[in-house]
Amino acid sequence: MIESIKLRKSVRTYLKKPLSKALEDTVKKILIEAENKKGPFGNQARFFYYSTNKEFDDEAKKIGTYGFVKNAPSFFGGVIKNTFSGIIDFGYLFEHIILELTKHELGTVWLGGTFSRAAFAHKVNENEVIPAISPVGYPLEKLSLMEKAIRMTIKADRRKPIEELFFVNDFNHPIDENHPYIKYLELVQLGPSASNKQPWRMVVEDKKIHLYLQRTPKYAESIPFVMQALDMGIAICHFEAGLIENHMKYMVTNLFMSNIDDKEYIISFILE
Ligand SMILES: Cc1cc2nc3c(=O)[nH]c(=O)nc-3n(C[C@H](O)[C@H](O)[C@H](O)COP(=O)(O)O)c2cc1C
Repeated sequence: MIESIKLRKSVRTYLKKPLSKALEDTVKKILIEAENKKGPFGNQARFFYYSTNKEFDDEAKKIGTYGFVKNAPSFFGGVIKNTFSGIIDFGYLFEHIILELTKHELGTVWLGGTFSRAAFAHKVNENEVIPAISPVGYPLEKLSLMEKAIRMTIKADRRKPIEELFFVNDFNHPIDENHPYIKYLELVQLGPSASNKQPWRMVVEDKKIHLYLQRTPKYAESIPFVMQALDMGIAICHFEAGLIENHMKYMVTNLFMSNIDDKEYIISFILE
């Protein structure tokens, strides 16, 4: 997983080619595995997959990705209960899928905003939502002009420095780059986030690591759920992947800590 975290990049331009039968089966298997898992808050999601049957542009127009994503041969998405913790869990489960697909050298991109939710309305029941979908296909190495423009606008290759994101004991003490947990925190820093806003903040307190959300004011207000809660799930997924690969023993648990100024407490890791 760590390798996938390091390799993953949003892919918005695909080779004009359907997925092979074998890879299509792999994608479906990964989605079923994710459906059988729960997020850190105990929610489960349903996932769906479909291929665009070579009518790339027609499909893209139908689901509102035309102009943002080019030549995607297939898409997948998911449905979950529309609560704050449901959305965090979706972020966690969906990022697992993205990283598994990255292992198979497939391209993906989280789409939380630039698709038409109405086109998928038939898939959701009351109190449910589709927080995101993603295309899946063979990445085209050469970026389209549109993709280059998107990446430049959102400064997609940039991440905030660790001292703005991670702290020791309280938010007044930025972490030192030699801290033993830096290697896990850096995996969070590499994560994708909506519009690359990077709202994750983490505080290390001895063997406890607390995750907070620093919301971007007025961000994605027209979206019917808290978009940046997805970023929290992604952070949990990445941090945990680091612990697992380093054979660390840990618990993920809600310690119901207080919010601190504009930082909203989400969840904690407790290491053994
Ligand atoms: C929750 C979430 C929602 C996103 N929504 C969109 C979207 O609607 N359209 C889009 O083009 N990119 C979207 N992205 C992709 C981000 O812009 C991208 O991850 C970020 O700029 C960092 O670039 P990278 O993924 O290449 O590292 C989204 C990412 C996340 C995590």
